[in-house]
Amino acid sequence: MRHEGKSIIVTGAAGAIGFATCEILFREGASVMLVDIDQDRLRERTVQLAENASGATGIAQQVIAHHADCADEAAVEGYVKAATSAFGTIDGFFNNAGIEGRLAPTHEYDVDEFDKIIRVNLRGMFLGLRFVLPHMVAAGRGAVVNTASIGSERGLAGACAYNAAKHGAVGLTRTAASEVAQKGVRVNCVMPGVIETPLLVGMLEQMFDDVAAGMKKLGEVATLNRVGQPREVGDVVSFLLSDEASYVNGAKWEIDGGALATIRNDI
Ligand SMILES: NC(=O)c1ccc[n+]([C@@H]2O[C@H](COP(=O)([O-])OP(=O)(O)OC[C@H]3O[C@@H](n4cnc5c(N)ncnc54)[C@H](O)[C@@H]3O)[C@@H](O)[C@H]2O)c1
Repeated sequence: MRHEGKSIIVTGAAGAIGFATCEILFREGASVMLVDIDQDRLRERTVQLAENASGATGIAQQVIAHHADCADEAAVEGYVKAATSAFGTIDGFFNNAGIEGRLAPTHEYDVDEFDKIIRVNLRGMFLGLRFVLPHMVAAGRGAVVNTASIGSERGLAGACAYNAAKHGAVGLTRTAASEVAQKGVRVNCVMPGVIETPLLVGMLEQMFDDVAAGMKKLGEVATLNRVGQPREVGDVVSFLLSDEASYVNGAKWEIDGGALATIRNDI
């Protein structure tokens, strides 16, 4: 129950990593606001969380859905206002919404597609920080986790916009971390590797004829020799949002089964 009494916003909450994290945060005592642009899935996921978790922890907790485009300034201001009026404070923020977009070499990349991906994955992340951090700074406490990627550390052929945005996510994390640390607020990021989610499938469909075989092949970049599951990201996010991570700030946490640790020379 390390999040008992805390209120946490999760963006991209109708997605695989976001929702797995909501389930963990709720189980550990938090009230959770789920934010997503996919209204139907958001509704389903919120009902699912409230039903599955109802009464499980034995403490009073809220589950709130908020439909919003995380890359729209007014919408971001809107979900932050809704969270403060429902919860009073924002103790944690998982800044996680993202899209994969179309894959193509940089020299052929569609310019509008580039703008679209940067808008959601980078501007959206900035806006989340821009509107959530003032509340945490005023309260003198809070923790943020941004979702970066192993694409923040390496090139991924065909994904120039995605990779540029995810490199930027680390820059935003480090910069914000250095600005708010002495005001009681920590900002870190996670770098998931190959995690089995709809976003990954969207990428695999563009890379391989056989998605299952492609997933197995990509799993082999990890020393653990498999893809990861959303829950394996959520557990690390929950830790970083908790007081147990009180001396962790401006860090990037690899959750990649060891993919970045080595050039695999055994496959
Ligand atoms: N799956 C992987 O292998 C992997 C690896 C590294 C990083 N990531 C990152 O993890 C995060 C979560 O992705 P996922 O893999 O769970 O995929 P997902 O597609 O299951 O979830 C993404 C969610 O973000 C939502 N979303 C997209 N645009 C939005 C917007 N403008 N406003 C609000 N919500 C929006 C989608 O509706 C979806 O529910 C993303 O930032 C992604 O880049 C994923």
